[in-house]
Amino acid sequence: MKIIQVTDVHLGRRGEIRYGADLHERLGRCIDHINARHGDATLCIFTGDLADGGDTQAYVDLKAALDRLSVPYRLLPGNHDRRANLIAAFPENGTDGNGFVQSVFDTPEGRLVFLDSLAEGRVSGELCDNRLGWLDAMLTEAASKTAYIFLHHPPVELGLTLLDPLGLEQPQRLIDVLTRHGNVGYIFFGHVHRDIAGTVAGIPFSAQRGLHARFMLDLVGDEMVEQAPPAYSLILIDGARVVIHSCDFLEQWPLWSPATGQRVR
Ligand SMILES: [Fe+2]
Repeated sequence: MKIIQVTDVHLGRRGEIRYGADLHERLGRCIDHINARHGDATLCIFTGDLADGGDTQAYVDLKAALDRLSVPYRLLPGNHDRRANLIAAFPENGTDGNGFVQSVFDTPEGRLVFLDSLAEGRVSGELCDNRLGWLDAMLTEAASKTAYIFLHHPPVELGLTLLDPLGLEQPQRLIDVLTRHGNVGYIFFGHVHRDIAGTVAGIPFSAQRGLHARFMLDLVGDEMVEQAPPAYSLILIDGARVVIHSCDFLEQWPLWSPATGQRVR
């Protein structure tokens, strides 16, 4: 099974240039790339910070852009999003019965679980009793099937001094639920605008740098954002195998032919 993770779209006003980049244009190029190379993907998951200011127009623009995406998609909120505006623009995206943007997507390879870690008004994330209770039920229902967790905020300290306090609050509450069920195969998140991989309580995780500017590894003072190439993740899940490729979709390197030794681009 092929799925795709796109994160931290940060769509703002049309024509706005932020840190030297037009995020509308960048999203369009990302969609073009996915359509051209991975139109056979089962699902494309956007792991939050869809709209930079959370305003209604940004979701209208996002919807117009995603109408061109040839792959089915699911959206998660991040700290920059506004839940009500997101739900209003994408009513078919799914909620959990308590008004949170949480849903599942069952596949032959297992159950994809989408969590809503948005704490309106705060940069850090939360999973309240309602949201964790829903997750508990979804993992119980998955039974022996492997579950793959998607959320915006990191549920683990990453060794990033300035960003770690802005991750998921009380992450151990989530980890306790996941380890109790023992059927979680992977955790995917965004928020930190960097490519990071590791394990927590034996569960592998990764973050994707996403479409917005990258946070520097050494965050010092005001010099904390670098305009690195944007990327999305191509995720292959097959049996016990999970493989993640980072696609730097704007990169254009010189091409050489191994057969002739000649440069072809
Ligand atoms: Fe972000």
